[in-house]
Amino acid sequence: MTATRLLSWILAVLLVQVLVGVVIALWRRRGKAQPAAVTAPPPVAVQAGAAWQGTRAFRVRSRGFEDAACTQCSFELEPVDGQPLPPFKPGQFLTFALQLAPPGENAARTVTRCYSLSDRPEPDHYRVTIKRVPAPDGRPELPAGQVSNHFHDHVQVGDVLQLRAPAGHFYIDADPALPAVLVAGGIGITPMMSMLRWCLAQQPQRRLHLYYGLRHGGEHAFKAQLQALAAAHPQLSLHVAYSRPGEADRQGVDYQHAGRVDLALLQRTLPHGRHAFYLCGPGAMMETLVPALQGWGVPEADIHFEAFGPASLRKPSVSVPPSAAAAGVAIRFERSGRSLDWDGQDASLLDFAERHGVAVESGCRSGGCGSCQTRLLSGSVVYDQAPDHDVAAGHCLLCVGRPATALVLEA
Ligand SMILES: Cc1cc2nc3c(=O)[nH]c(=O)nc-3n(C[C@H](O)[C@H](O)[C@H](O)COP(=O)(O)OP(=O)(O)OC[C@H]3O[C@@H](n4cnc5c(N)ncnc54)[C@H](O)[C@@H]3O)c2cc1C
Ligand code: FES
Repeated sequence: MTATRLLSWILAVLLVQVLVGVVIALWRRRGKAQPAAVTAPPPVAVQAGAAWQGTRAFRVRSRGFEDAACTQCSFELEPVDGQPLPPFKPGQFLTFALQLAPPGENAARTVTRCYSLSDRPEPDHYRVTIKRVPAPDGRPELPAGQVSNHFHDHVQVGDVLQLRAPAGHFYIDADPALPAVLVAGGIGITPMMSMLRWCLAQQPQRRLHLYYGLRHGGEHAFKAQLQALAAAHPQLSLHVAYSRPGEADRQGVDYQHAGRVDLALLQRTLPHGRHAFYLCGPGAMMETLVPALQGWGVPEADIHFEAFGPASLRKPSVSVPPSAAAAGVAIRFERSGRSLDWDGQDASLLDFAERHGVAVESGCRSGGCGSCQTRLLSGSVVYDQAPDHDVAAGHCLLCVGRPATALVLEA
């Protein structure tokens, strides 16, 4: 073997060794990367109906105003645990438990409020839209709405809030063959946004009519979104009614109808045939429109409504039970150590407890959220109409309950 040939062999062996080294190094690096992929959380299936008990921590991921007057603000909320969210029924609400000091006090306590979900179900976040509530007209000495103003003034992106799972019996039915009429007054648009966006995505063949009543263009929430949805979906008819249009508001461009959403407007603009009606708005609108629909012959089963607070409106089939005690029955609040006499002055046991300084939790004050649920140690409670919340056995809802007999309550 010549010296040149020997040198070539040595170089070839060295080259093979280098190549083998490179391949082994690459293999090792690949081997190290694999555990990172393996440790990524396995996908968890979203289970229909699965919800959480108590409260769950959510982080605010965005906030933004929906109207020109900046009085209605949307908050997107994602779970801190990063797990998928249980789907909800379009129209349902979330219950928030906040630690806030009441106006004029220093010590914080739990304050509960409900807010409707204002978008269709998504696996990674919820959205609510909250209207700032001022002091009542002509009463500037009273504090403005506590929680809504707290959200507007203090709740920022990154803040963590405690939420109860979606709840409520006001939601759209799943029958795509039955045209739906969604009637919203003011901030009552929120559950309708959820129903509308869900229907357009899941039931594209369903006829939808949205009637949205407000005073003027400054309050017109989701304006661009609604106009874009109506332009993209011929099955959706949009009827926006301004009762007090501003100078800059243009009929036919910003809104379709001058005046309120009333029966005459529905009769003039709805096609003949059966419809499912969903209504959410201020007390005055609901108290005229629901009986008007009944008077028009709409079957009870086709009228669904929700009030954002105590409402005098009853579900059509329910009359006031005669069994509520008028006055003179004894009410014992066991934990508070108070024994009182029901004097018939209060609309509910919640009002009665609060008037007498008994500490009880409340949220919706309309039988929907369960915040005021209290163990009933003895006696019986009546409701003017079946509460929306599924009351646990042996418990009662104070906000819509009145005593039928003497009571002993755990509160
Ligand atoms: C099922 C459901 C869904 C809802 N969905 C939404 C929604 O999507 N968006 C939304 O914005 N709201 C919604 N609400 C309403 C919401 O829950 C709150 O009721 C609303 O935000 C007002 O709460 P607040 O704490 O700001 O006002 P509060 O503090 O409860 O005050 C209410 C009013 O009482 C006045 N007031 C304060 N003190 C007194 C006093 N001493 N005497 C007399 N008046 C007084 C306040 O100035 C205010 O005008 C919903 C309610 C329910 C039940
Ligand atoms: S306060 Fe919501 S159910 Fe009574």
